[in-house]
Amino acid sequence: MKQQYSGATFSKTAPYYDVIYGGRNTEHDARIIIRHLSYALSHIKHPRLLDLGCGTGAHDVEFWRGGYDVTGVDKSDAMIREAEKKAAAAHANISYVTRDFLSYAPAVRYDAAVSLFDVLSYMTTNEQVTAYFSAVSTLLKPNGVFMFDCWYGPGVLLSQPKIIKRSYQSADFTVIRTKTPSVSYENNTVTVRHALTIEKEGKAVSRFREDHILRYFFYPEIKQFAEKAGLRITSWGLLDFPLRKAPPASWSVYFAARKMP
Ligand SMILES: C[S@@+](CC[C@H](N)C(=O)[O-])C[C@H]1O[C@@H](n2cnc3c(N)ncnc32)[C@H](O)[C@@H]1O
Repeated sequence: MKQQYSGATFSKTAPYYDVIYGGRNTEHDARIIIRHLSYALSHIKHPRLLDLGCGTGAHDVEFWRGGYDVTGVDKSDAMIREAEKKAAAAHANISYVTRDFLSYAPAVRYDAAVSLFDVLSYMTTNEQVTAYFSAVSTLLKPNGVFMFDCWYGPGVLLSQPKIIKRSYQSADFTVIRTKTPSVSYENNTVTVRHALTIEKEGKAVSRFREDHILRYFFYPEIKQFAEKAGLRITSWGLLDFPLRKAPPASWSVYFAARKMP
């Protein structure tokens, strides 16, 4: 079955993304990721870091504060515009590019790359996953470091995705979101239908739907996909320094990898 990631998927959500996902502590997560990257790159003064699928740039200002020369790439222009606002508000010198990272071909190579909050899971076919690791490998310098996360097969299957309805409040509006999942055991994917209502002063001003198709992964396949692209997994587990062994019920896991010289 052919499944496509739609570049428009995040375009409708972009203005509400930071309100919906505001419960994450991305600054804290970014600081842990910096410890991993800096441990591996201690010999480099001002390392060049690429954030693949940077979205609204949730981690990027913290990376920049940590001394990294940050470039974010995302195929959703609406997400990139939110990221640019965030960088401008923090007076952070971060470069943003609207592009499909699978065909991103800058003149430079990076010391480090990150791809955070399930970006890999949006690569649903084997061809896309192969292209993803190959793109990362090409973009990194030899010995470059890569950190990423994705949905973890055991956790998804043990937890059984359920319908979730929640509301999120900002100063100006309320977002009410219902997520309805359906699992494809054949493709290792979950199609999650997001139905959103935006309310202002108690009145619905907009309603829309987005389908997100995400793939869950198992460790041996990640290892194989990465190695085929010349990337060696150096550790994996829950985000901490070092990464902590993931219990089987974990919904998502992090991986650290190194480009083989
Ligand atoms: C769940 S969001 C994560 C955003 C951000 N990393 C964060 O932590 O909030 C996934 C992002 O990946 C981007 N994305 C997915 N496939 C992509 C591709 N092939 N090229 C560029 N961006 C992509 C989407 O546009 C979206 O912004």
